[in-house]
Amino acid sequence: MIKLAKNTFEIGLEKPVKLLHVTDTHLTLADELDDEKKRQLAKARGRDFGDVDGSVEANLREQIAYSKENCDLLVHSGDLIDFVSHANVAKAREILKDDGIFFIAGNHEYSRWVGEAWEDLSYRMTSYMQMGFGLGVPMFWNSRVVGGVNVVGIDNGYYHFADWQTWRLRREAEKGLPIVLVFHDPLFEQSLYDHHMAKPHADCAYIVGCDEEHLLPYSEFRAVQQRPDEPTLRMIDYIKSEPLIKLILTGHLHYNFESVIREGLPQIVTGCGSDGTAREITLE
Ligand SMILES: [Fe+2]
Repeated sequence: MIKLAKNTFEIGLEKPVKLLHVTDTHLTLADELDDEKKRQLAKARGRDFGDVDGSVEANLREQIAYSKENCDLLVHSGDLIDFVSHANVAKAREILKDDGIFFIAGNHEYSRWVGEAWEDLSYRMTSYMQMGFGLGVPMFWNSRVVGGVNVVGIDNGYYHFADWQTWRLRREAEKGLPIVLVFHDPLFEQSLYDHHMAKPHADCAYIVGCDEEHLLPYSEFRAVQQRPDEPTLRMIDYIKSEPLIKLILTGHLHYNFESVIREGLPQIVTGCGSDGTAREITLE
């Protein structure tokens, strides 16, 4: 069942544009073409995400139908699948054929066994190859103009940006249209950090661009994983300095949260789509 939040943002459009933001669906499918170990993983992870008799996929289908009825575009910010399996990849490929869906990958798109390995570029590319060259749509970078809004998706699922992504974002800005940025991992922002770290047993905030002071309470592993490198800091500086960037849509944290990165730049975190959560964004 769809659980809808609604927000409106003034970005100077002549005619409103509506986006349905969905994230973190975490499909947990496995079939006879997957091995027994993968089928066991699918069962266990399906329980974690409350999947009862295909309810997670049913929620996604309902979100897609709602978007077609009420919105200009469904924007999915990653973790459509929970792990790489034959059945998950086949399902994701089928869903993403729909031109009404704009997608950028999260960290779980490349996860093979959920947490079994250090996840870096090499791990990601091995998974990408195993899927048969990804999910049939762009996964590292995506952009589309809808109703005079430039929707730009950037893969930052491993807490980092690359310089080529900043270069391409600058080229997008040259189009002169207002930009909605979509990526999986939220950017550091004090109130979001405080909110997450106040949770019981939080050992990190799972956000991009934490400075050393804010990494101090992290476990060693999480600090190494989430410490920004120079290209990541350059991207964040650019995002903060580019007035055409009007809104950031993210997921990854599995709860709804709204804050502001700088004046005129809200950052939205939308909760886990697996339970039906979605957010209707009206841009005016
Ligand atoms: Fe997720």
